[in-house]
Amino acid sequence: MKKITIAIDGHSSTGKSTLAKQLAKELNYIYVDTGAMYRAVTLYAMQQGFISHDYFNEKELVANLQHIYLSFKFNEHLGFAEMFLNDENVEKAIRSIEVSGFVSKIAAVSEVRSKLVQQQKRYGIDKGVVMDGRDIGTVVFPDAELKIFMTASAEIRAKRRYLELLPSNPSVSFDEVLKNVTNRDAIDSTRKDSPLIIAPNAIVIDNSNLTKEEQFSKILDLATQAINA
Ligand code: DC
Repeated sequence: MKKITIAIDGHSSTGKSTLAKQLAKELNYIYVDTGAMYRAVTLYAMQQGFISHDYFNEKELVANLQHIYLSFKFNEHLGFAEMFLNDENVEKAIRSIEVSGFVSKIAAVSEVRSKLVQQQKRYGIDKGVVMDGRDIGTVVFPDAELKIFMTASAEIRAKRRYLELLPSNPSVSFDEVLKNVTNRDAIDSTRKDSPLIIAPNAIVIDNSNLTKEEQFSKILDLATQAINA
């Protein structure tokens, strides 16, 4: 069967990764979570002291980009690939609210983007890939056969994210999460390099009122149509 490239972009906490992962599994495609890559670079910057609440040494980060080696390793038990930063498993660490608070600043740095985009393009060389992020349909794979743009209201997205964070971080507040979600949208959509925009030929899915099953069946239909086109 023909293999295609599927780009899933959209706002933060729209459930893109869960859907993309599920779709890749169903189609037997590779799944790449590009947000995890930006998060891993952010974690590196935090560990090196290049970024904190009132400080960001962009120059130092850029000078050290060559020391950042990112890789995904498939975890049989979990059924998906986990993010490794310089051979250390950071899959959990990159999901913290602290990393979420800094990641948009890191993702706005052009040198960071070009390093990660190069690596992302390599993952798509043989097609058969589902990649999710913010610029996949516009920059990484402008020729993708299927482009989906996912969105939902900020309150609904924050609520989903809040419930996700709560078990590992009982002190997290809904307001804090909502603020993070809206701040990230604002920075991601207005940055100079590769802002989050809807690719002209993308199919927009607002999942505010859709169940997970409805969303999955919708994107599976779209993927099947694109594969058979
Ligand atoms: O998908 P996510 O929330 O894990 O992404 C984390 C951040 O990384 C998000 O605020 C924007 C940025 N990002 C990006 O700029 N480009 C991508 N392709 C993926 C993520």
